[in-house]
Amino acid sequence: PARAASNAASPVGRLAGDARGVRLNTERAGDLRRAASMRRRLLAFYDAGHRALPWRDTRDPYRIWLSEVMLQQTRVETVEPRYRQFLARFPTLDTLAAASVEEVCEEWAGLGYYSRARNLHRAACRVMEEYGGRLPAGAAELRLLPGIGRYTAGAISSIAYGLPEPVVDGNVARVLSRLDAVSAPPSSAAGSAYLWALAGTLARGPRAGDVNQALMELGATVCTPSFPRCECCPLRTGCAARAADSQESYPRKKAQAARRPLRVAFVWVESRRGVWLERRSLEGLWAGMWQLPGTEGPRARARLSERLGVELGRPIAEVEHQLSHRDVHAQVYQARSVPSLRRSADRAPYPDPLAAPLSALARKAIRAARARAFK
Ligand code: ADE
Repeated sequence: PARAASNAASPVGRLAGDARGVRLNTERAGDLRRAASMRRRLLAFYDAGHRALPWRDTRDPYRIWLSEVMLQQTRVETVEPRYRQFLARFPTLDTLAAASVEEVCEEWAGLGYYSRARNLHRAACRVMEEYGGRLPAGAAELRLLPGIGRYTAGAISSIAYGLPEPVVDGNVARVLSRLDAVSAPPSSAAGSAYLWALAGTLARGPRAGDVNQALMELGATVCTPSFPRCECCPLRTGCAARAADSQESYPRKKAQAARRPLRVAFVWVESRRGVWLERRSLEGLWAGMWQLPGTEGPRARARLSERLGVELGRPIAEVEHQLSHRDVHAQVYQARSVPSLRRSADRAPYPDPLAAPLSALARKAIRAARARAFK
C-alpha cells in the first residue's frame, strides 16, 4: 500500500521548530517514561467513569467507523440518535454497500456535509470488493479508503482493533497543547507534528483505543476551551499551561500574517466649488471609491507632487488605517491651487466631501484634514 499513515514509529527527535522560529521541546514529546505514566493516569480516569455512548459498547469496526465519520462535524448529542437510526437501517457493512447512494444520503438527511455519506457508501463498496467485506485494521490501508483521513484511520485502528495508533482531533489537540504549552498552533506544520508525535507515544501500549478515547473524553468534559476543570484532570500535575496559569492561552491560534506597511499621500485642495476629490480606478485597492487626490506606495509624496505639478510642504494631518493585509500610514498635504486638476467624470470639487462614496481611509483623512486646512 501507499505511504504509511502511522506515525507511531516516527522519529520524534527530528521535530524542529516552525517557520516563525518557535522551538518546541521535542524531548518532552518523545519522553517514553512520562508517556507510560500518562497512559496509566488516562486509563484510570477513563475506567473511573466515562460517558456511556452507543459506539462504546462495540468493537465492530463498521460501527466504530460510522460513529467517527458522524462525529467528524457533528456534536455527540446530535449523533447519538442518528447513529442508532442509521444502524437500524444499515446494520452491517454489506447492507450499506448494497444500498444505493441515494438511500444512504436520505438516511444522512439533516446531518450536513453529505460528502461524508457519499464517501461512506463508496468506501463500503470498496471494502466489499477488495477486503471481502471486512474493514482493514492498519491505519495505512484505512487511509486509502474514501473519506478516511489520518484521524479516522487512527480511531478505527485503535478503538476497533486495539492497534497502537494515535488520534489528534480538536479535543485532543487542546489537551496536549496545554499539557506541554505547545508554542505552535495545532494547524501549523510544527504544531501538528509535535501533537501527533506526542499522541503517538501515548498510544504506544496496551488499550490504545481507550487511551485515545480518554484523551477525547478529557477534552470534551474537563479540559474545555474555557473554564477547564483542572481539579478533576488526571494530567494536572504535569500540565505546563496550568503551571503557568495560562490554560486558556492554548492551543495557540494561527498568527495572522504580519501586515505590510503602505504609505499614502493625499492633497487637500479647496476651491470655491468645494474640496477636490477623485475616483480610484475600478481595479485594485479601494476600487471605484472616491478620495482626496492621492498616490500610494514608495515615495508617495514625491510622486503626488510630480503628478500634480505643485510643491507639497509639510503635512497638515496624518492618519493610520488598517486593512486586512496592510498597515496604512497616510499624510495629507494642502495646496492652494492646482491648475492640473480638471473636472471630469472621475474628478470634481465636492461642497460636502463626506457625502461622497469614500473609502474608510479617505473618510478618516478628510475628517482629520478639514479641521486643520487653512482658508
Ligand atoms: N468524538 C470523536 N470520536 C469520539 C469518540 N469515540 N467518543 C467521543 N467523542 C468522540
